[in-house]
Amino acid sequence: MKEKFLINGGKILSGDIEVEASKNAYLPILAGSILCDESVTFLNAPMFSDIENMCEILKLLNVKIVREGHLLTLDLHNVKNEKISHEYTNKLRASIFLLGSLLAKFKQAVISYPGGCNIGTRPIDIHINAFKSLGVKITERHGYIYCNAQNMKAGKVVFSSVSVGATESVMMSAVLLKGKTTLYNVAREPEIKELASFLNSMGAKISGAGTERIEIEGVKKLKGIEFKVCYDRIIAGTHLLLGALLGKDMRIVGAKREDNELLFNILQESACNFKEDDLGVTISACGRSEAYKFIETLPYPNFPTDLQPQLMAFETLSSGTSVIKENLFENRFNHVMELIKMGADIFVKDRLAIIKGVEKLYGADVFASDLRAGAGLVLAGLVAEGYSTVHNIEYIDRGYEKLEEKYSRLGADIRRLPE
Ligand code: UD1
Repeated sequence: MKEKFLINGGKILSGDIEVEASKNAYLPILAGSILCDESVTFLNAPMFSDIENMCEILKLLNVKIVREGHLLTLDLHNVKNEKISHEYTNKLRASIFLLGSLLAKFKQAVISYPGGCNIGTRPIDIHINAFKSLGVKITERHGYIYCNAQNMKAGKVVFSSVSVGATESVMMSAVLLKGKTTLYNVAREPEIKELASFLNSMGAKISGAGTERIEIEGVKKLKGIEFKVCYDRIIAGTHLLLGALLGKDMRIVGAKREDNELLFNILQESACNFKEDDLGVTISACGRSEAYKFIETLPYPNFPTDLQPQLMAFETLSSGTSVIKENLFENRFNHVMELIKMGADIFVKDRLAIIKGVEKLYGADVFASDLRAGAGLVLAGLVAEGYSTVHNIEYIDRGYEKLEEKYSRLGADIRRLPE
């Protein structure tokens, strides 16, 4: 059933909001869990539809899954290899992460081209070329990728360009491979460190995650474990930006400066008030902020593309002009037209968005085009004067759990309604 959010904007928000575990850490970790033949229990699995969709693929591979609230147990004793069709991969780009773990476990894999959020062409050439450099034979036919890893050998992979997913997938493929595999020019996102920490807890020997070079010493077997995944830095950033717009002692429980350094700098320079303690970050809005002149999205530790729409929603109300450059995904300005409907003054030229701050946004009917664009529109709706309707909220449910309930508890007027 299609649903929408109805928001009556302008309410001041206070109290605590907890940040869920990281979606982008969970997805590769779930894919990596099939490397083990025992059971794995996750202690904090959020109810994101992306996680449910990854679980559907695991069920296809004969993983027995039991969910009790946020406790998710995978019985991995009888995993089998299956062709993963478009029906599954279309819902989730992260399905491509399974390529690495299937190759490690079964020496072959057949998977349809992945889908995912509509933010650009999102090719998979970096994944394919990296596997080829380790000896995997790959053919592509009728939308499917056929991989044979009978002759795959540990060795050296130099990624042509930094890719989070390719780093994770190739890392998983080498965990059970005899000998040492070294990956160069890898992505350094905290989620990669988390995947390494998960696999190492199961007995893998991975070092260097979080730096530009990762080394994997192959092991024979992995063991079952219980695991708690790190918090979601993108959700924390979304809530922080909301707090900067509307907060009055709003505490984001679990937020840490170290994972969102650039966002904290922006908020600090924009003259927002926040303080950190052991539990998280408490933030209060302090009137109209100064526009942050220029920010561009780049791989970690630079500013994340996954916070770009939310930052843009924030900057629409700043005093002065800010420029945001989107370097990662060519189609990631779909929220601009929607923000303009609400009264924002934004001009897009190629990969640049030039945002002239306005004094007010006004409620409007807006449409989410992807997960983070949806989050940006919710922020805009919450701060706008009057009623907004955010449509296509199935995108938002991919990576935020019952967002309307969490924001309502802070004092927001936001309801989920059928379309
Ligand atoms: C991951 C995140 C996503 C985030 C993105 C960038 C997950 C589940 N998703 O996606 O939320 O927005 O990192 O931080 O973790 N590219 C190629 N060829 C490839 C692979 C990527 O050209 O084979 C390009 C992409 O189009 C993009 C850039 O490389 O421009 C980075 O993409 P990548 O890091 O691979 O993103 P994902 O792993 O898909």
